[in-house]
Amino acid sequence: MAAGKRLDLRNVFAPHHTCNGIMRRLVLRLLRRVRAWSAGPNLCMAFAGDAAPCSELPDGYALATAPISDAAWAQLLSAGGELGPWDALRLHTEMALLVPETQVFLTGVDAQPVACAGVYERDPESWEIGWIAVHPEHRRRGLGEAVTGLALQRAVELLPRAILLYTQDHRLGAIRLYLRLGFEPALRHRSHRRRWRAISKSLPREVAAHVVSSLQVN
Ligand SMILES: CC(C)(COP(=O)(O)OP(=O)(O)OC[C@H]1O[C@@H](n2cnc3c(N)ncnc32)[C@H](O)[C@@H]1OP(=O)(O)O)[C@@H](O)C(=O)NCCC(=O)NCCS
Repeated sequence: MAAGKRLDLRNVFAPHHTCNGIMRRLVLRLLRRVRAWSAGPNLCMAFAGDAAPCSELPDGYALATAPISDAAWAQLLSAGGELGPWDALRLHTEMALLVPETQVFLTGVDAQPVACAGVYERDPESWEIGWIAVHPEHRRRGLGEAVTGLALQRAVELLPRAILLYTQDHRLGAIRLYLRLGFEPALRHRSHRRRWRAISKSLPREVAAHVVSSLQVN
């Protein structure tokens, strides 16, 4: 390797290399875990409003009224790849934490689910808006805001507790959406203030100013 050149394991384990695909996938998965671990725990945001904002559903979409199968739900959560792979086991593990009657699905013209979010109870002191996803073919139409807003409405109607959500530094689109809905950074780890400051540099000026001022009162 030439001096100063960074070792890229994606090349070392490229498909043409003698190492087989399984090894490559294992190493890449391990690398992702190490990177996530070294970055610190997930960022936390807390809802700072009193009432959930009302977001309009974009034309052609509706709130699902018929039950959605577990297979269709897992497919939606897996569709973009950002939330990792979903199978029945993972889905049922998370469903055990889901607050009854809070899961929201939005459907498209063919009645297939295209967006989802729900309220989860991971501890007795807060509600978590979780597993927010919009199918990649239906993004940037306002569905993310609508489905998160609807789950938020359900959380607000529950016993009064902090309403939180967790995200990661690179999910700038999701972070902008959460800020728009009234969530603010909640500092839960010594790395969080520094990470929010870094994130604010990638946000539009007014949004960044709001984030930075919320860090001062936190
Ligand atoms: C994050 C996620 C849910 C957002 O879903 P979405 O449907 O694209 O969200 P929205 O359409 O409500 O908002 C996204 C952007 O589209 C814009 N938008 C909304 N309606 C629009 C329209 N009609 N035309 C163009 N843009 C539009 C919004 O202004 C917003 O832009 P901005 O963030 O740059 O200000 C989606 O990208 C996703 O599923 N990501 C993968 C899973 C994930 O990361 N989940 C969050 C885990 S914490």
